[in-house]
Amino acid sequence: MILDGKALSEKVLERVRIKVQKLNRQPHLVVILVGDDTSSKIYVKNKRVAAEKVGIKSTIVELPDSITEQDLLKRIDDLNNDKDVTGILVQLPLPKHIDKNKVTMAISPKKDVDGFTPENVGKLAIGLEPYFYPATPQGIIMLLDEYNIPIEGADAVVIGRSNIVGKPMAQMLLKRNATVTMCHSYSKDLECKIKTADIVISAVGKKVVRCKMDKKNSVIVDVGIYRDSNGRLTGDVDFDLVSKSAGYISPVPGGVGPMTIASLMYNASKVY
Ligand code: GUN
Repeated sequence: MILDGKALSEKVLERVRIKVQKLNRQPHLVVILVGDDTSSKIYVKNKRVAAEKVGIKSTIVELPDSITEQDLLKRIDDLNNDKDVTGILVQLPLPKHIDKNKVTMAISPKKDVDGFTPENVGKLAIGLEPYFYPATPQGIIMLLDEYNIPIEGADAVVIGRSNIVGKPMAQMLLKRNATVTMCHSYSKDLECKIKTADIVISAVGKKVVRCKMDKKNSVIVDVGIYRDSNGRLTGDVDFDLVSKSAGYISPVPGGVGPMTIASLMYNASKVY
């Protein structure tokens, strides 16, 4: 069975659109884009198009590569104090001379639609409700729930320990009472951990999931997205091989990508 992220994302966006219509104020998302990273530009455009679709006001602030950290922090401070702005997102990566942690920490937790600030990350870690959950893991949970995939008690393997996907994904699965194994580049016997799992979530950017799964109802979620040597968009999972033995598998493209955007719009519709 294919985990159709594209189809679910449309449903989620429609729900968000209806919710936004009923709000007594229009949410306003500000996306800051520093420099001219090609992928970042595409992601930011996708966010703008989605915001438009659901009736969320969006402003893209394009800043030059040469901006100083201090000036960027000042822009964020101004947005924190701007009552018209309900969400702030700084597109990553940032240029090398800017400390991304300092920038992230400058965002007001109540406007942190990425869920990356220490207050939101910390609340998730100690079992409190953050203002926002990070978009990609939240979108993956929505996808698992849509297909009634049991999370409680499941053996879940998360591959990749990024702050954007792997770590919050593990926390969210733990919150739902899964048994979580976190794997990364130093993990031993990765294949052995993957094949015995109930749920595998891979967010690496390399073909790391390429084995036969032991359990027929196993679930494979592919967060990786990159171009192979032939220029084709591909993910972390050897789809042809793994799909033969897994119960559920998310495709690339059309799986996690559209869910991330829909989940971000869900966040951007929240006004604190
Ligand atoms: N760059 C890649 N993924 C993300 C994300 O989820 N949020 C932000 N702000 N930047 C990113």
